[in-house]
Amino acid sequence: MRISVIGCGYLGAVHASAMAELGHEVVGIDVDDRRIAQLAAARPPFFEPGLPEILRSATATGRLRFSTDIADAAGAEVHFVAVGTPQAAGSHAADLSHVDAAFESLLPHLADGALVVGKSTVPVGTAARLAERIAEAAPHASLAWNPEFLREGYAVKDTLQPDRLVYGVGEGDEHAASVLDHVYRAAIEAGTPRIVTDYATAELVKVAANAFLATKISFINAMSEIADATGADVTALADAIGHDARIGRRFLNAGVGFGGGCLPKDIRAFTARAEELGRGESLAFLREVDAINLRQRQRVVDLAVDALGGSVHRKRVAVLGVSFKPESDDVRDSPALDVAVQLRGLGAEVVATDPQGVENARARHPQLEYTSSTREALRGADLVVLVTEWREYRALDPVETGRLVAERRIIDGRNVLDAAEWRAAGWQVHGLGRR
Ligand code: UDX
Repeated sequence: MRISVIGCGYLGAVHASAMAELGHEVVGIDVDDRRIAQLAAARPPFFEPGLPEILRSATATGRLRFSTDIADAAGAEVHFVAVGTPQAAGSHAADLSHVDAAFESLLPHLADGALVVGKSTVPVGTAARLAERIAEAAPHASLAWNPEFLREGYAVKDTLQPDRLVYGVGEGDEHAASVLDHVYRAAIEAGTPRIVTDYATAELVKVAANAFLATKISFINAMSEIADATGADVTALADAIGHDARIGRRFLNAGVGFGGGCLPKDIRAFTARAEELGRGESLAFLREVDAINLRQRQRVVDLAVDALGGSVHRKRVAVLGVSFKPESDDVRDSPALDVAVQLRGLGAEVVATDPQGVENARARHPQLEYTSSTREALRGADLVVLVTEWREYRALDPVETGRLVAERRIIDGRNVLDAAEWRAAGWQVHGLGRR
């Protein structure tokens, strides 16, 4: 099929490359010329495992092109809108200006029978409003909402082999569902569950899923606070409750909490939308989920102050990790970077490191000292703070690491180290909700 993808960020660049990999003819559009130039040269503008390979192979076939000109989307049968919906300045609501601008710029280029497919995460009610706009300005086209559940770090796999497909379509619009079936034929033939529903449900599926995941993480983090107060161990607790299939062990890792470009802003936008709908109390618990999450960052900072005897001033602190999770260079709302910035604000000599996230972190917080070398970061440290669980940090050898630092003190902000092994090597180990 001929496909356009409007917006080539973490979501759109992967989606465009994956669609071309599946055999479709794709044009990716973005207003950022630098990003488009990189993608056109088959160079991913961000770190995402597997993306360089599919970007290269799809570009080589000639099926994948990139452009800054929306007119190049004309003639496509399907237009995916994958632009960002960040948190609006000074409010918890989502900023829909990019979505609205993308739709308006696309309207004059819609061919007869074209299907516009929203992928961006939007407040419930947005699709119905945009469908009206299409009916008015381009009645020969239609709209579907097809939320995306990809995780950064696994985005290529999640796009090529999704665990479910959700299509929100207009009333009686069987055409939209059959077009999307065609787009995703490979996944459908592989037995991927597919749910065809209305716009509002499709929009809600996405935010409900993220709200549930955020709640699960904050639940275990709340348990870690109780564990700290009682001498219990939150990891053993998570293992034990996780054996109950109704609960499940995944997303029950206590630590410095969730961040990134999705969960934090999505739960805030969801709460803001519920308030607009007069149902604020239904989602009031998400405010608590957010508060627990932000408290975890403060807990790590407080642990650092305690571990250093009451003040971090002029102490050298090695912060391991700045990206919001491993296998990503994304530092948006990163708990790890937040901890580094707070410690620096308290007067610590912070040296932050990350296998992929240093450049993005430096662009946001140039006041911090960075190195891409773990050894360099560790050298002479009075305290080590592990806040993103990259494999190479999990695999650190306590004896060898002990030779690099000035003092053997570590905060395991992700509860991933074998504390007994580290203690045996002479380390003071501090965790969240761990004995
Ligand atoms: C999330 C959703 O998982 C995905 O389905 C949606 O499409 C976009 O938002 P992503 O932001 O890539 O994906 O990250 P995810 O893997 O969900 O992790 C989110 C945050 O939660 C990370 O900061 C991670 O470190 C943290 N986390 C995750 C925990 O603190 N504990 C856990 O047990 C799991």
